[in-house]
Amino acid sequence: MLNFRYYNPTKIIFGKGVVDKVGKETAKYGKKALFVYGQGSIKRIGLYDKVVKNLKEAGIEIVEHGGVKPNPVLSHTRAGVEIAKKESVDVIVAVGGGSVIDEAKAIAAGAVSDCDVWDFFEFKAQVKKALPIITVLTITGTGSEMNAGLVITNEEKKAKFGFRAEPLFPKVSFLDPTLTFTVPPNQTAYGAVDAFTHVSEVYCNRAKRGVPISEGIMETIMKTIVKYAPIAVKDPENYEARSELMWCSSLALSGITWCGVGDLTLPAHMIEHSLSALYDIAHGAGLAIVTPAWMRYMKERRREHLLDFAVRVFNVDDIDEGIKRFEGWMKSMGCPIRLSDANIPESDIDVIAQNAFELSKIWGMADFYTVDVIRDILRLCV
Ligand code: NZQ
Ligand code: ZN
Repeated sequence: MLNFRYYNPTKIIFGKGVVDKVGKETAKYGKKALFVYGQGSIKRIGLYDKVVKNLKEAGIEIVEHGGVKPNPVLSHTRAGVEIAKKESVDVIVAVGGGSVIDEAKAIAAGAVSDCDVWDFFEFKAQVKKALPIITVLTITGTGSEMNAGLVITNEEKKAKFGFRAEPLFPKVSFLDPTLTFTVPPNQTAYGAVDAFTHVSEVYCNRAKRGVPISEGIMETIMKTIVKYAPIAVKDPENYEARSELMWCSSLALSGITWCGVGDLTLPAHMIEHSLSALYDIAHGAGLAIVTPAWMRYMKERRREHLLDFAVRVFNVDDIDEGIKRFEGWMKSMGCPIRLSDANIPESDIDVIAQNAFELSKIWGMADFYTVDVIRDILRLCV
């Protein structure tokens, strides 16, 4: 095993009806909460009323910051930071998916700092402290509920950047699989692809092969997602499928998978962020397009890793067949697998590659992932 450092302080409260404890847990961190949520799904499923009632019963004063959009944007985040500062909130309660939780994390950092919140994303400032964050997850995939990462789009710069900082681990995350029963089939599939690629990217880039514990965890997560995602797509209220997907997603980017195999490396994510920044497509949809192309591009350089992937995840002994099965699984759930499936013109490849290279530099990947390499990978998405 390679040396590693593992740290994950998020308390997970999992199961049916656990949201009833949100007030009690939040009260441990203060009396005034910023309640961050998205564009209406939590009102439609009756969760908004439940959370408000529960917080109030625990004596917590609520300040609202709703309207977070999927692929959350900097302007709305800055507005949240202003409210949090003006109202001097003690704690942030984020109810929603990765977008809501990510924006809540940025606000948590911005609220206790003097710099502009975007400075963190360009590594001009470091997050040394943050307001405590409580999350109630309503859609699975990103793992934001159990990690210290966040991704925000700067609309002016057309840049979707992300970073991780330890103070941004949520203190407590409530995971009730029944809250995801209403997630539509396409979003269910995109979330599954996202969680899957959080593992497959680590697996196919691992610096050390032959670490049975971490490889076993990764293979089990990938196989479990492959099995249960199509079930949840077809049968949205299948509790077993929703709960397996929920826990897999949380574990997938929690840090547990890359212990002893090398650092987290996310090249397909780096390229995908440009697709969602430029075309506002769902993150998981973009990954369904980029990840198989990345695998094809890396076939010679990652031959052993990709063969492990084909054999141990898709039960075939050929790399090309493994990638095909992976694509077929995503396609069967309605994901786009080519740029044209998402109405992204081939003629934009240069612009996308230039955009992605900015993140490649910020993430320290520019030695290998040059504009030319990114362009060649994108050509395999056609
Ligand atoms: O806006 P609302 O009302 O919340 O509706 C959302 C949104 O339209 C809806 N939805 C959520 N829960 C629902 C529901 N609809 C019906 N019933 C429910 N129970 O689903 C749509 C998508 O939600 P969103 O939060 O955008 O999805 P997701 O969780 O996939 O988050 C995507 C964002 O997270 C980032 C992505 O880049 C993207 O910006 N990521 C964050 C990561 C992290 N923090 O570690 C890692 C990932 O790689 C990813 O980059
Ligand atoms: Zn992702």
